Amino acid sequence: MLKRFTISLDEKLLEKFDTVIKQQKYVNRSEAIRDLIRSSFVEEEWQADKDVVGVISMVYDHHQPKLQEKVTEIQHDYHHQIVSATHIHMDHHNCLEVVIVKGKAGSVNELTDRLRSLRGVRNCKMAMSTTGKDLH
Ligand code: NI
Repeated sequence: MLKRFTISLDEKLLEKFDTVIKQQKYVNRSEAIRDLIRSSFVEEEWQADKDVVGVISMVYDHHQPKLQEKVTEIQHDYHHQIVSATHIHMDHHNCLEVVIVKGKAGSVNELTDRLRSLRGVRNCKMAMSTTGKDLH
């Protein structure tokens, strides 16, 4: 069931909000506000070490000695959290690895930190998402 409520907002803040959501292609304020509320819940799930899902994407140089081996070893340490991993050879030097993870926020953050801190890893980002079971 949908419920309606009224929000009071400073005029300047509302103007800015409207500009931003227009740039982001939202059809109306309600949809934008719903998404903002949901993303704050996703953040809360991550903060509270709940069961979450996420996508790690990392770019690294496979010529870096032992790096490929370490990346694999670390992923094996977290095999319970890893749903899927895809490796793409981008060019002569660079590999892109995309890892879909699921589990307690703390353990998947730990996995991301361990991968990010390896020498030769040029970029490593976690896209935080949610199992969705508490989001309606
Ligand atoms: Ni590669």
